[in-house]
Amino acid sequence: MHVAVLTGGGDCAGLDTVVRTLTLSLLNRHIRVTGIERGYWGLMRQQWRALRRVDMQSHSDVGGSLLGCHNRAQPFADPEHGGPDVSRQVLESARAHHIDGIVAVGGDGTATIAARLHAQGLPHLVVPKTIDNDLAGTQRCVGFDTAVSVACEALERLRTTARSHRRVLILQTMGRQTGWLALHAGVSAQADVILLPEFPFSIEKLVQHCLQRAAAPRLGHTLICAAEGVDVEAVQRVLAQRLPCEVRHVRLGHVQRGGPPTACDRLLATQLAHAAALDAASGHFGHLVGWQAQGCQRVALTDAESLTRSVPAEHPLVKAAMDLGVSLGQ
Ligand code: F6P
Repeated sequence: MHVAVLTGGGDCAGLDTVVRTLTLSLLNRHIRVTGIERGYWGLMRQQWRALRRVDMQSHSDVGGSLLGCHNRAQPFADPEHGGPDVSRQVLESARAHHIDGIVAVGGDGTATIAARLHAQGLPHLVVPKTIDNDLAGTQRCVGFDTAVSVACEALERLRTTARSHRRVLILQTMGRQTGWLALHAGVSAQADVILLPEFPFSIEKLVQHCLQRAAAPRLGHTLICAAEGVDVEAVQRVLAQRLPCEVRHVRLGHVQRGGPPTACDRLLATQLAHAAALDAASGHFGHLVGWQAQGCQRVALTDAESLTRSVPAEHPLVKAAMDLGVSLGQ
């Protein structure tokens, strides 16, 4: 069996953990693994290489993708050659190289291409990654937790300087047309205002809110976390005209995508990739390996024993760790 892996769309933290876990878990099962360079760009141009155990030496604190990324490649309308549909050639070259299936690590653009190629006969699995966390079918995408942490830290740093100067400071996160990233970062950093594209806001109410804070002796400043889909320049312009203090904004940009993944992202990447490897190894393609967790639940308070939760031997993370050669001393 021969499985190929690619990292499509924009990069984010945690991609190499996915590639490493997937590759080692497949190699452990004597499955040949090929790494496609720069997402679907490499698949369209047959830019790929064998992935061996020795190529997987990097540690999980590395950001970016060892395979490279491309967020404009499109086999159904190749933008570099005037837009022709090259999907048939892609299928033929994958078959000629005996690729049995592809694991595409990506967001909605990658998942859409994956679904279409799968329907045409090139088996696909999708592992969700995007700092936007906006992919349907999963509650968490690889890279999101890291981006939230980076934005949260940026907000905390902005808070202290906003307070010192009694300014209004606006941090704009990424996130395209969804507000997951701004919401999570804003809540975790206790921003005073969070603006999301999903929720229309009244600029007048915002002005009044900032005016009240500016007038309060112990406050004086306002920290605003706005999503990418919000017109921050318009907000800044109006606030600057109406408020007695300075209003500045910071666009955080690609800082949110770079650097080492958080521990949460590493663990999510490990579990999703291991599950994807098990599916691929059993020839089970055609789906996204998503993450679903339950919300709050009421649990009766009884005795201490029932309040303790041990790690079960069959926990997916335990199995993945063992597959990666981690010793549990057993
Ligand atoms: O989808 C991830 C993302 O980082 C978005 O939040 C952002 O709008 C976009 O990619 C930026 O893409 P690029 O790297 O092409 O500027």
